[in-house]
Amino acid sequence: MVEPIQIAVVGSGYVGLVAAVCFAEIGHSVICVDNDEGKVAALQGGNTLIHENHLPALLERYRNTRVRFTTDLGEATRACQAIFVAVGTPQSDTGDADLSYVEAVASEIARSINGYKVIIEKSTVPVYTNEWIRRVIERNGVARDSFDVVSNPEFLREGTAVEDFLHPDRIVVGTDSERASELLDAIYSPLTGGEYYQQPTAIPGCCSRLNPPILLQTSTKSAEIIKHASNAFLALKISFINAVSNLCEAADANVEQVARGIGLDSRIGPKFLRPGIGYGGSCFPKDIAAFRSVAEQMGVDFSLLSEVEKININQKKRFLSKVRSALWTLRGKRLAVLGLAFKGDTDDIRESPAIDLVSMLLAEGCTVIAYDPAAMERAEVKLPRSSQMQYANGIEEAATDADALLILTDWQEFARLDLMQLHTLMRYPIVIDGRNLYDPKQMTENGFTYLSIGRPSAAPLHEAARLGV
Ligand code: UDX
Repeated sequence: MVEPIQIAVVGSGYVGLVAAVCFAEIGHSVICVDNDEGKVAALQGGNTLIHENHLPALLERYRNTRVRFTTDLGEATRACQAIFVAVGTPQSDTGDADLSYVEAVASEIARSINGYKVIIEKSTVPVYTNEWIRRVIERNGVARDSFDVVSNPEFLREGTAVEDFLHPDRIVVGTDSERASELLDAIYSPLTGGEYYQQPTAIPGCCSRLNPPILLQTSTKSAEIIKHASNAFLALKISFINAVSNLCEAADANVEQVARGIGLDSRIGPKFLRPGIGYGGSCFPKDIAAFRSVAEQMGVDFSLLSEVEKININQKKRFLSKVRSALWTLRGKRLAVLGLAFKGDTDDIRESPAIDLVSMLLAEGCTVIAYDPAAMERAEVKLPRSSQMQYANGIEEAATDADALLILTDWQEFARLDLMQLHTLMRYPIVIDGRNLYDPKQMTENGFTYLSIGRPSAAPLHEAARLGV
């Protein structure tokens, strides 16, 4: 293994915490800094605070050995040459990324610099942030040759973040300095050289000793744009297939067949062509808005991004209309809702289309009985319990006496429902699936009226006449 490097990671959110334990996993020594004392205490006690595959095991393995948690950024700066900044860049009222946390961290690092340091932005930031960090550090009296600022964006998906970190499609390092580049090469060498994948305890994934990831070196500004452009392009793919799904519904075609047909073209590729109720999460909505705002500030017409957003918002409204088309009136209807997280395998509800839809249904006067395997605690903060908003302990409880069942998140367990049991539990056997988890034919054979996205509605014969399908 390579010589361990002392690394500081500032911020212990999804990106920071995953990066910290993964740097430890590839042999480095990490100090993870957060200014939230409660969070630091929880992490020191082994509580990951987020639902993420492999994270509890890795935290347990390295906690208090290769990973330490602290609130003291000054101490971490003095102890480490590489300082990764992974603090939040929330969306401001204007749509821009709010960079005040990044700025505060840069100033604090500047006050503690005691030798050559490389400050590496991992948070998703607009182009030119790198230059601003450099200016802030210089303004605090630090000599230009005592530090470099690098952009090393992260492409982690929640739920598979650890695997994505250790088995990346690529590692992007944006730097204009040879010295900083050498340090980043050394940090990532266990992955790029393939040694990590030979270890018996290595987390499995798509990379291997013979097929290690590549490290792409670019200018700092290109790296910053790569991150925003990647997320914008993925969101565009989703909005594109959602628009196509609407066309399929109008033309009585099947979007799953269309997505497969276009995805087999190697220039397009099959991924991120799953139609649904729109994208959500902590990244896509925020990053599209920030990218659009950056383009505007630079006088570049990128109205394509506004269309991507518009389609995404409309997709939720269309789903609400679908529910109405199946139930006629909504007031007083009892709806079982499966899924509140913005996607499966996470407890994250930030910008979750499921949460937005439940709010819309409540506003229409429905009673919602929701179940999510991981996100209910967080959801309760946004959607407090009431006579209209209830939470169930399981699928059966949610479905009992329901006028319809709505699938809003693509959890694996929602794709394996016991259909016979469900049929007996529900008041009316109507399933409205926002994630296309079922084959319409299978649903009608089990006696369900089944509405999904971009596919012909399906109903047992007596219901088909009523719905006009
Ligand atoms: C995303 C990017 O994938 C990741 O590279 C980046 O670093 C952070 O943002 P994440 O937000 O975890 O990751 O979720 P992702 O799996 O990309 O899904 C985003 C949203 O798009 C979810 O709401 C998901 O349900 C939706 N989605 C995804 C679709 O509707 N259809 C698809 O085909 C894929």
